[in-house]
Amino acid sequence: MTGDPLPPVLLVGCGKMGGALLKGWLAHGILRAVVVEPATVATKEFAGRAEVVPDAERLPADFTPAAVILAIKPQEMANVLPAYARFAKNAVFVSIMAGRTISVMDALLGGASVVRAMPNTPAAIGQGFTVAVAGRAVSADQKALADRLLAATGEVAWVEGESLLDPVTAVSGGGPAYVFLLAELLEKAAVDQGVPQDLARRMARATVAGSGALLAASPEDAGALRQAVTSPKGTTERALAVLMDKEAWPKLVPEAIDAATHRSRELAS
Ligand SMILES: NC(=O)c1ccc[n+]([C@@H]2O[C@H](COP(=O)([O-])OP(=O)(O)OC[C@H]3O[C@@H](n4cnc5c(N)ncnc54)[C@H](OP(=O)(O)O)[C@@H]3O)[C@@H](O)[C@H]2O)c1
Repeated sequence: MTGDPLPPVLLVGCGKMGGALLKGWLAHGILRAVVVEPATVATKEFAGRAEVVPDAERLPADFTPAAVILAIKPQEMANVLPAYARFAKNAVFVSIMAGRTISVMDALLGGASVVRAMPNTPAAIGQGFTVAVAGRAVSADQKALADRLLAATGEVAWVEGESLLDPVTAVSGGGPAYVFLLAELLEKAAVDQGVPQDLARRMARATVAGSGALLAASPEDAGALRQAVTSPKGTTERALAVLMDKEAWPKLVPEAIDAATHRSRELAS
């Protein structure tokens, strides 16, 4: 355990993201973790360390959480939230549901302190990046608690305007998918050049993972690290001339992020 234990927390939805958060809280130390999760398989690994119930009706009567974490699918929100309104007096609500706005959650809870956050999947190994925004009713202490809870899966950054969560969703929320696509395409290109499938797969995975680790460990900008691999008139320079053509990545990446940002705005409710 590192530092003071976390106060009692109620986790609603213990799937991939909720489970990653719970794992982090248990590793840190938490006074009491209660989980609402209907899928028994999702909570098996937490047996004996967290109290699990299948629905809100079966929560322990004496339980007063300091925070309620909403990690269910966005489409479940309207049906699920009203059952938790009774905790709104004492708890801060922290939602990681994509596209669900603070004002809608506030209304469903009959008035509540709501933090909205967007994590990403490296959270599963404690290397996530979460961007959060606090609703107007959230106190400084509640924000600090939300920060501690979200930091269990990696880095946390706070922004003021909720509308920033649309580009955040496009860049860091979806970002792992773009990086995995790069690994897929590198593997396929290697095979196309005659590299055996197994080796192509190992090379692509290790190159993406190793480059990410180097970027994380280095104080240098990504551009400087790129230039360090690029000898004048060499092979990398030749490949980058294709990728950095003004019609290629410099055009496509902003277009992709713009498309995802627009979609995030469309889905907001
Ligand atoms: N995965 C990502 O990359 C990512 C990134 C950013 C944000 N998010 C957000 O994180 C949230 C969770 O995503 P996820 O990938 O962890 O989804 P997930 O693995 O499907 O987890 C959701 C869990 O909630 C459970 N559940 C369903 N109804 C419930 C209820 N009434 N009460 C309590 N639990 C209930 C589900 O059980 P069943 O399986 O039985 O339905 C499932 O285990 C989503 O809102 C998503 O938008 C995800």
